[in-house]
Amino acid sequence: MSAGSFYITTPIFYVNDVPHIGHAYTEVAADVLARWHRQSGDDAWLLTGTDEHGQKILRTAIANGVTPKEWADRLVETAWKPLLETVNIANDDFIRTTDERHEVNAQKFLQHLHDEGHIYTGEYEGYYCVGCEEYKQTSDLVDGTGDYAGQLVCAIHSKPVELLHEKNYFFKMSAFADRLLALYEENPNFVQPEAARNEVMSFVKRGLSDLSISRSSFDWGIKVPWDESHVVYVWFDALLNYITAAGYGQNDEEFASRWPATHIVGKDILRFHAVIWPAMLMAAGIEVPKQVFGHGWLLVGGEKMSKSKLTGIAPSQITDTFGSDAFRYYFMRAISFGQDGSFSWEDLSARYQSELANGFGNLASRVIAMVVRYCDGVVPALSAGTAGAFTAEDLAIAATERRVTDAAAAAIDKLAIHDALATVWELVDELNGYITLQEPWALAKNPESRERLGTVLHTAVRGLGTLAVLLSPVIPIATGKLWTALGGDGALVDQRVDRAWEWTGGAQVSALEPLFPRIESIVEPTDG
Ligand code: MSP
Repeated sequence: MSAGSFYITTPIFYVNDVPHIGHAYTEVAADVLARWHRQSGDDAWLLTGTDEHGQKILRTAIANGVTPKEWADRLVETAWKPLLETVNIANDDFIRTTDERHEVNAQKFLQHLHDEGHIYTGEYEGYYCVGCEEYKQTSDLVDGTGDYAGQLVCAIHSKPVELLHEKNYFFKMSAFADRLLALYEENPNFVQPEAARNEVMSFVKRGLSDLSISRSSFDWGIKVPWDESHVVYVWFDALLNYITAAGYGQNDEEFASRWPATHIVGKDILRFHAVIWPAMLMAAGIEVPKQVFGHGWLLVGGEKMSKSKLTGIAPSQITDTFGSDAFRYYFMRAISFGQDGSFSWEDLSARYQSELANGFGNLASRVIAMVVRYCDGVVPALSAGTAGAFTAEDLAIAATERRVTDAAAAAIDKLAIHDALATVWELVDELNGYITLQEPWALAKNPESRERLGTVLHTAVRGLGTLAVLLSPVIPIATGKLWTALGGDGALVDQRVDRAWEWTGGAQVSALEPLFPRIESIVEPTDG
């Protein structure tokens, strides 16, 4: 890893179905963190992609009468890549596990583990959940209900598991239990948040078994290099995407400059990332990830949102009405990152109206409109003689700009995106209060308070510029429009978010359309 490198990943998503807002949530969180680091001067790199092998995809393809590759191509082009547009993700790479760069280098990794004696042949009998693509312990199973009454079902998917008996290749994962525990002890940040770390530690303390890493009863996967009658277990294959996309096996220099990564994953797949994955890397003599962060679930009606349980909501159902900025803001603000959170249309609409439209959008429109109306669009300045000396109230705003800039950066360091936003909102609220108290419209009526009017509008414009920079990783479209209207120098994405208050300010503002228009005006059908 080179100095300032920040390599961040999302899980790679199964292409058996189309995305719902749970998937988009992970994408947005990782994207906000990547944008934040990019604007903090780091060499940030955001990787996302798709997980295309395994029985689940194979069965879906067969059910749809196409080959698994045809199915994957279709879903990637019509659903998963479009998702990135829908929620405005600025990813640097998109990996598919059917990419040659992945298949070839995943095989190299496997061969290396085989050569080093970490793999052996064995037999396995156990319950397999195709939804999870995982062998289950009986403690992971529950009694089925309805159609599945009398059968054991997976606690996550509520669908029956299958009893499999196969001759497989095994990875000697049990040999790494002590090293894993030492890793969690010595580096408490490796798995976060704390509840996730505790869960992973107690899981490993109960003892680790070896891991079956191949399947031979179907052939949709990467061939095991020394035995082509087996394909690589889909999770073993998928986890490797994080290194094959970063140059492992083909570009040592690139790999050294990016790796290790910060992995953002849902808590459902924490163990794969915090136990199996570092053990695989230890076996291969590769540095473990920088961090694995397990976020919570989006709940709808109290249940984990999922397509199979018919609670799934497509991201475009929200963005078509509210826009991608509001989607991004809502999920990052309303849910503590790392904990479960309930989605409701009422909460989304209420926050859109009170926080984005009234709190932030109106503030921006009013300040700019007043600079246009009272000052012909020219931003008043002390140096031009159009603003006076700062009073305690003005200096308090400047102090808040600095304080929230630092506090937001500290929150992002802990991946507490919700805290960063709450902190920035203190500046939104304080600026609104400042305008109410200073009453620039009253100052404008009196020629004698002209200079004071200039100071107030100058202070407000500066505060808005700081907000545009601080909020740009979360609501890039609205803040981009605001930045242009404020006459900010250069591109907003090039402004340093960790020094947001330092922006130098524009000389002239230009008209600003409402950043978060009333929803009725968006959904109303247009004439003609
Ligand atoms: N393909 C594996 C991951 C392999 S990574 C090497 C997989 N894919 S998945 O399509 O099922 O996506 C899982 C991820 O989607 C979760 O870890 C989480 O990030 C996100 N979510 C899916 N449903 C979700 C919610 N209801 N709530 C929040 N996130 C959710 O597992």
